[in-house]
Amino acid sequence: MISNNILSFAKSVLCELLEPGCIAIDATVGNGYDTVFLSETAGADGHVFGFDIQEEAVKQTEQRLNEECRPQNWTIFHSGHENMLELIPAEFHGRIDVVMFNLGFLPGSDKTVITKSATTLVAIEASLGLLTRGGLLCVAIYAGHPGGDEEDRAVREYCTALDYHAYRVIQSEMINKPGYPIRMLFVTKL
Ligand SMILES: C[S@@+](CC[C@H](N)C(=O)[O-])C[C@H]1O[C@@H](n2cnc3c(N)ncnc32)[C@H](O)[C@@H]1O
Repeated sequence: MISNNILSFAKSVLCELLEPGCIAIDATVGNGYDTVFLSETAGADGHVFGFDIQEEAVKQTEQRLNEECRPQNWTIFHSGHENMLELIPAEFHGRIDVVMFNLGFLPGSDKTVITKSATTLVAIEASLGLLTRGGLLCVAIYAGHPGGDEEDRAVREYCTALDYHAYRVIQSEMINKPGYPIRMLFVTKL
């Protein structure tokens, strides 16, 4: 796979890690592209939980899943990802293989509806608790929109402070892209 953006790079990493039957969370479903990828990867024996605060995003994602993915191995919540601990059934706690966050705003939609560091950090902490050992948290961070810079700093500060004996954190970045940085953090739970 040619990784021509940070998300396709993350997906190529996930293709190596994930197996059919995996359990995944898409913390920001948006237009549903990442959710479809996770649903296809999880297959009939796996499951994908998705979150978004925008009804439009939830509808768009469900439509895309219905059109492109068989079987129906997903549950999409019209709710903030900061509520994932309460909404994901207890039987899946500690069994999640991957959590994807694609921060910022929904492309083609209202650019003032953005992820915010306060709720993003609550959700990242919850995600780390939900992951299985060896599970991966991926966070795509964009610093170019109003509020993005602050969220970028807050998320990287949080992940930098994670205990090295419990988590491994790798950061990748498009370093020749003009303008604001686009980063991907990969956090593996040991
Ligand atoms: C960059 S978009 C996601 C793109 C998406 N992964 C895709 O494949 O199209 C970011 C999304 O985060 C959503 N969002 C903002 N705050 C949120 C929150 N607290 N919980 C869940 N989603 C949130 C926005 O509504 C927006 O749809």
